[in-house]
Amino acid sequence: MKDKLHRLEQLRKTALQGGGPQKVRDQHAKGKLTARERIDALLDPGSFEEFGMLVTHRSTHFGLGKQKFLGDGVVTGYGTINGRTVYVFSQDFTVLGGSLAEAHAQKICRIMDMAMDSGLPVIGINDSGGARIQEGVVSLGGYADIFYRNTQASGIIPQISLIMGPCAGGAVYSPAITDFILMASGTSYMFVTGPNVVKAVTHEEVSSEDLGGATTHATRSGVAHFACEDEADVMRTTRRLLSYLPSSCREKPPFKPYTIPDDHIRPRLDGIIPVHSSQPYDMRDVILEVVDPLSFLEVHKGFAENIIVGFARIGGYVVGIVANQPAHLAGVLDIKASVKGARFVRFCDCFNIPLVVFVDVPGFLPGTDQEWNAIITNGAKLLYAFCEATVPRITVITRKAYGGAYDVMNSKHIGADMNYAWPSAEIAVMGARGAAEIIFKKEIAESPDPEATWREKEAEYAQLFANPYSAAERGYVDEVIAPRFTRLKILKSLDALQTKRKEPPRRKHGNIPL
Ligand code: HXC
Repeated sequence: MKDKLHRLEQLRKTALQGGGPQKVRDQHAKGKLTARERIDALLDPGSFEEFGMLVTHRSTHFGLGKQKFLGDGVVTGYGTINGRTVYVFSQDFTVLGGSLAEAHAQKICRIMDMAMDSGLPVIGINDSGGARIQEGVVSLGGYADIFYRNTQASGIIPQISLIMGPCAGGAVYSPAITDFILMASGTSYMFVTGPNVVKAVTHEEVSSEDLGGATTHATRSGVAHFACEDEADVMRTTRRLLSYLPSSCREKPPFKPYTIPDDHIRPRLDGIIPVHSSQPYDMRDVILEVVDPLSFLEVHKGFAENIIVGFARIGGYVVGIVANQPAHLAGVLDIKASVKGARFVRFCDCFNIPLVVFVDVPGFLPGTDQEWNAIITNGAKLLYAFCEATVPRITVITRKAYGGAYDVMNSKHIGADMNYAWPSAEIAVMGARGAAEIIFKKEIAESPDPEATWREKEAEYAQLFANPYSAAERGYVDEVIAPRFTRLKILKSLDALQTKRKEPPRRKHGNIPL
């Protein structure tokens, strides 16, 4: 037995070395942790249980027969985050550049299958040169096996991708199907074709960082949900993100008892809306005042800043916040904002996370750029996402709710449960000035003082519609409330809606306008 134990010990020792001390030093020199160090940083101490440590590839082409590494360049298994079990894979760049081939892919697929069977999240740590070139088509097959599982698991278990190094070519499509992408600034990049191919095809000169670094994807493309400062920040953010998510669609998100009694009236909210309705204010001030202290985790913070999305707790309940941001482009809905909002709403609906929506929207952004790039189809994504959501849905109209954007932003008509409006709300087909110009075109044109007539008609329209009361008369808003009571009303709504059960219509799946 002693010999046998010794052999086992030796094998484990070899596996733990990854690609060897020099490769580990190279990895550290790039400011990157190794696959196992990352798992240790992510999971609760000592909780990791590894699978497939002794797996190797079976290829002999191009000298690979002499390059066998135990584990085949990916560490897989399960462990806990704040006591909750998650499955993890972590690609080991020190072994053949973390490249993916048959055995490597099989290990990842195995933990995905196990996570699906048990209803537990999968966190993938990506750091790879892509398809292992020496293994040819089996590498492509391995990727496809993963893509298929990503899709089957979508909406059933949360899937989170951490990008900690290169992620190029078709390899990007696994993270793209998952729910959240977190990137480490300066050391990670994602692109379908790298700078050299870009230069050859389009003659553009661009660095890897500009083409597909964390900042690029968190601000320009929206591919990344979080651009983290460094690897440690990626781990912290992932642990925090997970604290809002249920382990699968079969569960509710984790409730955290809120212990401060009678803390639900927020007088500061009464002073947030500016005197003039064209003046901006920061919707984050509203959100932060309403949610439990330090509980707001903003998602996609630097992308499409005219809409804010993120997770928070209200009285301990996890909620998904969707809010127009009047401080950026007046809170208008454009293509990027619509897509950002739609994806977040659908995520929350998959995972039983109630939606709390703050509305201050002047409408959809006009212009050829928007029309030619399909604001119609893209705006419809947000509309569709809200229409199909069956989770508890609460709306607070703080100021403008104009035109189609009123309907889209979780209105009563498309299935919201509780709709509140502040006295500052303006719910109408359009702004009073534009409305007056159209309805009273003739009177204004024929008036001896067109500007005065316009202003007079504008005031008339505003008096009638630039308020919440005509919507309240029809029951489109359930109650007009003083802003200070917003948190209390939402909390009571969340309590009342805990037992909401609404089944979507039976069908294979809907056809969201993609
Ligand atoms: C096999 C690979 C590899 C790969 C890297 N390595 N990528 N081995 N297949 N795809 C090996 C290198 O040969 C090297 O081995 C070690 O990993 C470290 O790589 P370096 O080049 O020394 O590291 P670095 O300078 O940091 O550059 C990293 C890199 C570069 C930018 C990722 O290695 C690179 O460009 N690799 C090729 C990327 C690529 O074209 N992949 C295929 C994409 S197509 P030694 O033994 O020298 O240490 C694809 C299709 C997927 O992925 C389709 C899915 C549908």
